[in-house]
Amino acid sequence: MTHAYEALTELFESEGAKEYLGEDVSIATHMLQTAQVARAAGASAELIVAAVVHDVGHFSGAMSGLELMRGHDNRHDAIAAEWLSQWFDAAVTEPVRLHVAAKRYLCATDAAYYDRLSDASKYTMSVQGGEMSAAEVATFAAEPHCESATALRRFDDAGKDPEAPVPALADFRAEIEALDRTLRSSAAI
Ligand SMILES: [Fe+2]
Repeated sequence: MTHAYEALTELFESEGAKEYLGEDVSIATHMLQTAQVARAAGASAELIVAAVVHDVGHFSGAMSGLELMRGHDNRHDAIAAEWLSQWFDAAVTEPVRLHVAAKRYLCATDAAYYDRLSDASKYTMSVQGGEMSAAEVATFAAEPHCESATALRRFDDAGKDPEAPVPALADFRAEIEALDRTLRSSAAI
């Protein structure tokens, strides 16, 4: 069985991870910086791991992030959460599944939030459904992982700095392995 760290190492070294998708940093750099922002903010191990992996849906699914930039919603949030669920529990996969919705939620509930988004995030927002309606806001606020999803979203928006240092995936290995259910079950056998 391939464990999470092994699978993620392969993914981070793949061509897809080198795409920029309209940002100033590559997807791999972006995810690692997002995790660093989460760690610096004192986030839980679950949220740090969610940050490391939150955009894997751009390059682990059938439709890549390039499709999103061409105006087709690649549903990278749902694809990632499903792929990640082979190793991780909901505390990791739910913030990932909800991180696009969290952007739409924050735009509807925080007047200053939209202006702080990168141009690429503003563009993809329009493809992903735009600002939430009042009914969608109420549904999202009732999600058990609403708070961690919005926290992840704010780390996400801060993890795109071409001047900031870029940690290695190995810097997050301990958290990834501690939460990888397949390692826990093999240890128990
Ligand atoms: Fe992201």
